[in-house]
Amino acid sequence: LSQAPAKKTAVETEPRIRHLVSINDLSNDEIFSLFSEADRYLATLGDPVLGYRIASGLSIANGKIAASLFYEPSTRTRLSFETAMIRLGGQVITSADPQASSTSKGESLADTVRVVSNYADLIVLRHPRDGAARYASDFAHIPVINAGDGGHEHPTQTLCDLFTLTEEHKEFRNLNITISGDLKGSRTIHSLVYALARLGSKMRLLPAKGMELPANVERRLRNEFGGRTEADESAIGAWYITPDQPHQPALFTEPELPASSPVGDRVDAVYVTRYQKERHSDEGERDYPRVDKKFLKDPKYSKSSVLHPLPRVDELDTDLDTDRRAAYFRQAAYGVPVRMALIAMILGLDPAKRLRNFVGGFRDTGAIVIDQPEGAGLKCPNRNCISHDRSEKPHLRDKFTYVTYTPPVLRCFYCESDIDSFVIGDKRHRRIYTRQPKPATPRNLVCFTDEAQARQAGFSQA
Ligand code: NCD
Repeated sequence: LSQAPAKKTAVETEPRIRHLVSINDLSNDEIFSLFSEADRYLATLGDPVLGYRIASGLSIANGKIAASLFYEPSTRTRLSFETAMIRLGGQVITSADPQASSTSKGESLADTVRVVSNYADLIVLRHPRDGAARYASDFAHIPVINAGDGGHEHPTQTLCDLFTLTEEHKEFRNLNITISGDLKGSRTIHSLVYALARLGSKMRLLPAKGMELPANVERRLRNEFGGRTEADESAIGAWYITPDQPHQPALFTEPELPASSPVGDRVDAVYVTRYQKERHSDEGERDYPRVDKKFLKDPKYSKSSVLHPLPRVDELDTDLDTDRRAAYFRQAAYGVPVRMALIAMILGLDPAKRLRNFVGGFRDTGAIVIDQPEGAGLKCPNRNCISHDRSEKPHLRDKFTYVTYTPPVLRCFYCESDIDSFVIGDKRHRRIYTRQPKPATPRNLVCFTDEAQARQAGFSQA
């Protein structure tokens, strides 16, 4: 009767957990596979009248639990994730009020995540700090999905946005999309522009004054995602970012994209965002782009789909709600099938469609990550980064990815803020590097803000 257990393969004994922190954790192939799953759910479980609405469920997630950890307000993201889990046949546990949890007693995110990892099979995390989701994934042995981390990213909103565009019969290649509003503070925009650049779309940016795309994000679009700006004399304050080469970063194995054609006049989609008041300190009057019937009267918008991640305040006129171009309520409805597909794939509910099995899936970039000795040297310059959260101090190590731009930059491992000026030292000889560090020895490296800080720590020029 007693049978020796079958020997486990390396893959079984060391399952690679896939987290979704940045939209760049998914390859284009994976995004499209996820959309076919979402489409399948709509076809089989959709409302016969309202085709964008999921109306019944499955039992494939029977026995599985998703934990919603929401440290910031949310309506759509949390409720659609929870609906998605329930429609798959799973269950949810929710902590959406920091005052009602041990956070109010001073518990760190690290400890909460360690504990919840033993209760649930999946964590959906929203947090006011940039980089909180990547940080949380360091302490979780179950997948962590980023449901918005400060002003950094909101990858699942991007999946809903892209899915909406496909359902609106838009092609990503050469798609002309206008993106307006608070491009600085909107995490949804940061994930969206990376994805659109990777998919070969052309973005015309219409930021409110002083709310331009962060320099970091813009530089990544150029350096890593083939972005290029095109002059646009007709629109003051607007600029295009178009891909000038197939996007082939080391992370993805995609089929070649054809070269892009010049920006035409027709606008396929308008993406509107609200002023992110919780991410800015000024409360004064501001000049903010407003999308209404008058704005859309220009013939170039006659076939534009209008998207908004919602909530809207007054940047998007309610008069548009009955306009055939308004796609934003369908966009919110698609949150359910898209998140069902994501949960099913990240949990591997269908073994043939596990996220980590996909060809062209996530591969290690091979970039050096420098894990700082406790309390030493360089700190992330972004004060809203999770690395500056006092409750996390005992658990946290400052970590930086060494990005091989010319000249190289250091990127905070958590919030992805770039640091242009720094020096790197070798702990073994207490010497400052003058050239690129050797990839084989990142554990010996330590970063400093400048030479003076390195000298103070006992390092000297090689
Ligand atoms: C967005 C967010 O939280 O970043 N909302 C959402 O998830 N749909 C956009 C916003 O709050 O403006």
